[in-house]
Amino acid sequence: MKVLVLNGPNLGRLGRRQPEIYGTTTHDELAERCVEWGSEIGLEVEVRQTNHEGVMVDWLNAAADDATPVVLNAAAWTHYSYAIYDACAQLEAPLVEVHISDPFQRPEEFRHSSVVSPHAVAVIAGHGIQGYRMALERIAHDAG
Ligand code: DQA
Repeated sequence: MKVLVLNGPNLGRLGRRQPEIYGTTTHDELAERCVEWGSEIGLEVEVRQTNHEGVMVDWLNAAADDATPVVLNAAAWTHYSYAIYDACAQLEAPLVEVHISDPFQRPEEFRHSSVVSPHAVAVIAGHGIQGYRMALERIAHDAG
């Protein structure tokens, strides 16, 4: 089964971006791990990252058309984008929300709400990049 892992703005700088919060794994390394973790549990994983909201909406719309399960780290869009909210609402297959840090426990108030959560079968936050593995396991579990 095909699964999309979609990462939003600033996640392309993983490894260099605030490593004390997001760790030292780069986005390329994260993508490799996700493909490996997926193949171990029978998932064909494709990982993408964009800093452009319209591109993310297009990817989510295509996932809705194809009923493809999605693991989504919408990054900062999580906290304010109604375009992402509306795109997630259209998904047919399971959506799992993932965050590397736990934004709901961080000091900035704006991180405490999510437009993705209402549409997600699970929210995984604060487990570093292992959270992506947990998200893929949840998708595989729901499919089985
Ligand atoms: C994040 C948390 C968000 O609050 C933040 O804007 C990000 C990354 C995470 O993975 O911890 O860019 O989604």
